[in-house]
Amino acid sequence: MKALVLAGGSGSRLRPITYTSAKQIVPVANKPVLFYGLEAIAEAGVRQVGIVVGDTAAEIEEAVGDGAAFGLEVTYLRQDQPRGLAHAVLIAREYLAEDDFIMYLGDNFIVGGINDLADQFRAGRVSAGDRPAAQIMLTRVPDPRAFGVAELDGAGRVVGLEEKPPQPKSDLALVGVYLFGPEIHDAVAALKPSWRGELEITDAIQWLIDAGQWVESTVISGYWKDTGNVTDMLEVNRLVLEGIEPRTAGLVTDSELIGRVVIEEGASVERSRIVGPVIIGAGCRVRDSYIGPFTSVDRDCSIADSEIEYSIVLRGASIDGVRRIECSLIGREAEVTPAPRVPKAHRLVLGDHSKVQISS
Ligand code: TTP
Repeated sequence: MKALVLAGGSGSRLRPITYTSAKQIVPVANKPVLFYGLEAIAEAGVRQVGIVVGDTAAEIEEAVGDGAAFGLEVTYLRQDQPRGLAHAVLIAREYLAEDDFIMYLGDNFIVGGINDLADQFRAGRVSAGDRPAAQIMLTRVPDPRAFGVAELDGAGRVVGLEEKPPQPKSDLALVGVYLFGPEIHDAVAALKPSWRGELEITDAIQWLIDAGQWVESTVISGYWKDTGNVTDMLEVNRLVLEGIEPRTAGLVTDSELIGRVVIEEGASVERSRIVGPVIIGAGCRVRDSYIGPFTSVDRDCSIADSEIEYSIVLRGASIDGVRRIECSLIGREAEVTPAPRVPKAHRLVLGDHSKVQISS
């Protein structure tokens, strides 16, 4: 079995971060979200992984390399444009050959891994006779209208799929992990672009169903999130931080660390109060500040005379004299400082598609 990890896409919901960076590399608890997926794939016993990359290929390749650090053999597959999830399968045709494969969306986060799902599919595929051509993972959601939604028969087989239906037939949303046999290639080759101009994986799976193929489903009860927008990214960061083990490798002076707090190598914390779960990356300088729960500060940041909580701060950012920041994603090398006292005005230099909420 191989894996196909999708790490291209346009990332429009995470602009402006995605103008300069791949969304799959945005860190969750100071580790790129993509790495959690690669670890889950390695854990499921898969070695050969094709990573589909787009404009941000160089950054993904720099972060993941040849995959040896994960125990994987990675091959990069270049997609010229984000033409849809099924298009990624199309361009991977030669790489995947006749192998079964796990398709994993590189910005998705699943707690509990994918071992059971992979084992179940492998077991089904070795038995003779009728066997599933695909297996999808589903989860119950309160409002399915924003998701791909599956309709099942009594035995759990999928009888229909709809992409973002106005009137969903169930509350079972598709999670960003799929298992396919080589049967999917005929389906993908037969697709026409959808109304949004993409080759949709839901259409490919529906094609299998219409062709009388067996599409199996597993309903997971564990946690799943697509980190494609800031709110969900912060929520996944919260969840991962809840499980960190406290550790102080940096220098802490005249400060109070409460709960699960990680201070990485070469970081310094002075005259500050940090209430975990919090992670402060290598080389950061924190002084005279309050850092509140569910905050990840990536390496080489500077935080002084400030308060921040429930936020992600990317590499090299500096925050000086600002009270108080919450629910924020602050980009690499960004600077946040107070404006001069007079005139009482906000001074902004914002990238395209930035979002600012000012409390005044
Ligand atoms: P999406 O989040 O569905 O798409 P997107 O990245 O274009 O984001 P947005 O909706 O905010 O514009 O993609 C899921 C994953 O699949 C993500 O890791 C990007 C990847 N992907 C590809 O590799 N190729 C593609 O053609 C598409 C559409 C997505």
